[in-house]
Amino acid sequence: MSASVSEMLVRKLNLCLVLLIVVCVWVPVVMAEENSLLCTCYGEARIAEPQYNLPNCSWYKNLACCLRTEVTSVLGSMYMIHSSTKACRARLNYMMCYFCSPDQHKWYDKGKVNICSSFCNDTFEECKTTMLEDLAIGDMFKSGTEFCEANSFEIVPGKDHCFDFDPTVFSGSDRMSLCHLLVMILSLFCWVCVALF
Ligand SMILES: *[C@@H]1O[C@H](CO)[C@@H](O)[C@H](O)[C@H]1NC(C)=O
Ligand SMILES: *[C@@H]1O[C@H](CO)[C@@H](O)[C@H](O)[C@H]1NC(C)=O
Repeated sequence: MSASVSEMLVRKLNLCLVLLIVVCVWVPVVMAEENSLLCTCYGEARIAEPQYNLPNCSWYKNLACCLRTEVTSVLGSMYMIHSSTKACRARLNYMMCYFCSPDQHKWYDKGKVNICSSFCNDTFEECKTTMLEDLAIGDMFKSGTEFCEANSFEIVPGKDHCFDFDPTVFSGSDRMSLCHLLVMILSLFCWVCVALF
């Protein structure tokens, strides 16, 4: 082996080592961040964790603040939604599942869910003709504000620090799980190392 070839090999090995160190430092930092999401609805005694068998609110399965039994008891006691559009059902369903959100530390404060005013207004518009028991939502409430207040939400103008609808959860895409992320990073690392040699 000539000197220049072994020199190049050493340089590539060094690069791989640096990459490995970066991955080893960065991954635990990302994991620690994900793991420290406080579930403020539950008095900060709980952190968000994977819940792979949620019977509903399942878009939170990779990281959820609720437990399976809580979803069953909360959604089981909710009013039945009749004759509503798909868009309305999605919004109401999403609204009901707030207690599962791993982002609740951003908008659950002093016993109140701070909800974005636009989420209330859009839901009200979508659900006006939806029947709750024997009345249409549009007949029971004058506005999205009234509708959300009746459901004990605290309405916040703007989009910051408030519970907002995420339309992507009903359009088939999924929040990337930490495990997928980890596998992706490791395979990227292997791929780079293989390409180097
Ligand atoms: C979740 O609950 C909502 C509201 O009760 C219902 O419309 C929806 O069909 C449920 N989804 C599943 C997967 O059970
Ligand atoms: C929602 O509707 C209320 C009136 O009911 C209005 O004051 C508020 O500005 C609306 N919010 C948004 C984001 O459009």
